[in-house]
Amino acid sequence: MNRFIQAKNLSLNYPQYSSLLRRQKNMIRAVNDINLTIFKGESLGLVGESGCGKSTLGKALIRFYQPTHGHIFYYPPEHQGSDPIDISTLSSRHLKKKGIRHRLQMLLQDHSSAMNPRMTVMKIIAEAIHARPQKPKGGFHDEILSCLNQVGLNETHLKRFPHELSGGQRQRICIARTLAIQPEFIVLDEPSSALDVSVQAQILLLLNEIRQNLGITYLFITHNLLVLKLVCTRVVVMYLGKIVEILDVQDLFTHAKHPYTLTLLHCVPDLDRKDSIDPPKGEIPNASNLPSGCGFHQRCPYAAKACDQYDPTLKQISSNHWVSCHNI
Ligand SMILES: Nc1ncnc2c1ncn2[C@@H]1O[C@H](COP(=O)(O)OP(=O)(O)OP(=O)(O)O)[C@@H](O)[C@H]1O
Ligand SMILES: [Mg+2]
Repeated sequence: MNRFIQAKNLSLNYPQYSSLLRRQKNMIRAVNDINLTIFKGESLGLVGESGCGKSTLGKALIRFYQPTHGHIFYYPPEHQGSDPIDISTLSSRHLKKKGIRHRLQMLLQDHSSAMNPRMTVMKIIAEAIHARPQKPKGGFHDEILSCLNQVGLNETHLKRFPHELSGGQRQRICIARTLAIQPEFIVLDEPSSALDVSVQAQILLLLNEIRQNLGITYLFITHNLLVLKLVCTRVVVMYLGKIVEILDVQDLFTHAKHPYTLTLLHCVPDLDRKDSIDPPKGEIPNASNLPSGCGFHQRCPYAAKACDQYDPTLKQISSNHWVSCHNI
């Protein structure tokens, strides 16, 4: 498979300022030294507890935020084999000039606030089409309609405002707007979590279909491990700003090794379960005051002596399986 985006030692810190003199108090280390390759056309799942840095990583990869350290290499699909472009330090203007800005997009978690309530569906999509570097060859109106058809909506929705649509339809409009920019990579941040189960299933199937038809690459952020099975090929598990495990989605429920992944799997609701659900003990540590050694050692049932002293590195244990744990 061809590489599409590669993060090398990627870190992103949010500075915290005191309210009085606006002096920097401390730093939230949201993403810490991440190495990750995303391949062209894959749908990579990203899971982890709330606050572990999933959205921050997604926003850094599409250069919505500038990373504090490290590199993000973008491999233009039309120049496979040539040197990648390091986009980590490019300004927004340069990203636009190099024709990269519109290729990397994000679908936000909260679809209600993602749209201007004063704009009709037609204006929302037209605005996105304007963001393309090349304007559509056919008529603008036809292009808007084709974007709507791609997500299963039609002309009757064109003149409506966001509040005149159901939650599922609003999410479809958000997807249509993202597709209207003609991206190559979309970070999908919990795209279905605010929807009821039947609409959720429709949106997931729609996203699968779009990926297959258009060859778009996804980073799919979710809290729902069962959703991963439907839409992803590989899974990355994150804890406290770091990657703790990477594996194929079909191995997640059977071959996961990291104690944190096992804890997450144990929290999946299952009607046939005989034992009770056992959530991870304690709270996720404060990202502005990281613990020494392995970030999970304070909550890990298998923590040994080395765990609070040395930070484990991500080790390859089989062809598509990487784990960061002293005990494995
Ligand atoms: N704009 C920001 N300014 C300062 N701190 C932030 C900002 N955005 C996120 N954070 C902090 O960075 C850390 C990671 O946040 P992030 O939103 O990436 O987590 P997440 O894994 O996406 O969580 P969730 O699953 O709840 O969406 C958290 O401690 C959060 O409070
Ligand atoms: Mg988030």
